[in-house]
Amino acid sequence: MNQDQLKQDVARAAIDHIAPKLNKDSVLGIGTGSTANFFIDMLAELKGDFAAAVASSDASAQRLKSQGIEVLDLNEVNELVAYIDGTDESNAQLALIKGGGAALTREKIVRAVAREFICIADESKWVKVLGRFPLPVEVIPMARSYVSRELVKLGGDPVYREGVTTDNGNVIVDVHNLSIVNPKELELQINQITGVVANGLFAHMGADVLLLGRPDGVETIYPN
Ligand code: A5P
Repeated sequence: MNQDQLKQDVARAAIDHIAPKLNKDSVLGIGTGSTANFFIDMLAELKGDFAAAVASSDASAQRLKSQGIEVLDLNEVNELVAYIDGTDESNAQLALIKGGGAALTREKIVRAVAREFICIADESKWVKVLGRFPLPVEVIPMARSYVSRELVKLGGDPVYREGVTTDNGNVIVDVHNLSIVNPKELELQINQITGVVANGLFAHMGADVLLLGRPDGVETIYPN
């Protein structure tokens, strides 16, 4: 079974998880990436069972619209029933590293408004200690060098992601070689650096449930 099949399996499991919770006024938050894309395509089956969606990126908004799903601005919405998104890593507490697709800031904002964060991922994303995947940090462009020097002081090796501008007009610095044993503390430390917009640690507001795709089926994991 290949990785795409596992992603499709978890997208299907998320549809089954969310379907009973929807009503005609429900608004869903939708994430970004290849796993989220499978979910968006399947979500078209539930059209009519919910009102609309809010997207964490321009790319996901376009994909939702192409499926005939109404996309709202987050400022028009008081609450999202759930936020469904992939991840780059998850530990057993369901603290995550996200932002491989450079959408981390909007993902964090949409997640903050959602009642439940349903994370969908294939088993390659499951780790004991976060940090094998370089931690993305969204930075105001003029602060890139300063922020990178500060990230070195925290023990990481920052690398500028060349050629990438976020939907918010900023740049991404990926921090390599971190072994993140205290994700909540590091999330706050990085947020304190002037010029940082957001970092890809979702520890203070991690996932509420992880649907993890394995060759023998989808495992439903709650925070340890
Ligand atoms: C986007 O910025 C990320 O947070 C994605 O959620 C993450 O990269 C997962 O992407 P895939 O589903 O493509 O692995």
